[in-house]
Amino acid sequence: MEKLIEIKGVRHAYPTGQGPLPVLDGLELSVEEGGFAAVVGPSGCGKSTLTKLVAGLMKPDTGEVWLHGSRVTSPRSTVGMAFQNPVLLEWRSILKNVMLPLEIVPTKLTRSQQEDRARYLLSLVGLEGFEDKRPSELSGGMRQRASLCRALVHQPEVLILDEPFGALDAFTREDLWQTMHLVKEKEPFTGVLITHDLREAIFLANQVIVLSGRPARTQYVLPVPNTGPRDLEHLYTSEASEMLAILRHQIEVAQGRAPAEETSAAE
Ligand SMILES: Nc1ncnc2c1ncn2[C@@H]1O[C@H](COP(=O)(O)OP(=O)(O)O)[C@@H](O)[C@H]1O
Ligand SMILES: [Mg+2]
Repeated sequence: MEKLIEIKGVRHAYPTGQGPLPVLDGLELSVEEGGFAAVVGPSGCGKSTLTKLVAGLMKPDTGEVWLHGSRVTSPRSTVGMAFQNPVLLEWRSILKNVMLPLEIVPTKLTRSQQEDRARYLLSLVGLEGFEDKRPSELSGGMRQRASLCRALVHQPEVLILDEPFGALDAFTREDLWQTMHLVKEKEPFTGVLITHDLREAIFLANQVIVLSGRPARTQYVLPVPNTGPRDLEHLYTSEASEMLAILRHQIEVAQGRAPAEETSAAE
């Protein structure tokens, strides 16, 4: 499979009043076309910084970021993003919010095709009938669904989700996991999911990348077998328990709460 996203030897520091703050140092990541990588790591280790590098919103001090065979040096319209806080515009209907990227990114679609596409995506995520509502009229989970549609409406090559379900209650979050599987089936994308939820990571992704504490390097990569749509019961299998135990341990290492020598499998 072709590598669609490649991050090689990335180092980055932010300038601060107290001098440079090294955030990434030895970041390696590659995602094949159609792949879905989950990225986990301690709070503040540089996960959101990683998403900005992939979207071309920032350039690394050293190292390279590649998307679909070309080096990323400026913002990419072929990347769709969704965040923990959906930032929908209250003065626009849900439908018009979803159509927003089509007003910004050049598209060959006619106005009515644009609207059809937005309506199709909204129905795919279960928001049929809510097209004319305002964001404040929707629940948190529904707003997040709309935000997902907006991130996908211009058929991005890459979908970046930065803790999209982090603010939702557990049941709503699990519903959205199922929706993600459905969306990926109907609207295939290559994805990067930043999450704090290890169950979410193994339920949705085909590889889980554990970042070390700041400055973050790629500490461990766990391949997830048997991906694709499935029941939540899958999370209670022995296979899932083993993966969760490995990830839990790796997070403890990243947080400096467990010794690092057992991490040699990542090398
Ligand atoms: N623009 C910035 N200037 C200075 N420091 C920043 C900036 N953006 C993020 N940081 C710092 O860099 C570190 C990593 O940030 P971030 O990538 O948002 O971490 P994460 O998403 O893993 O929680 C944090 O300590 C944060 O405070
Ligand atoms: Mg973040």
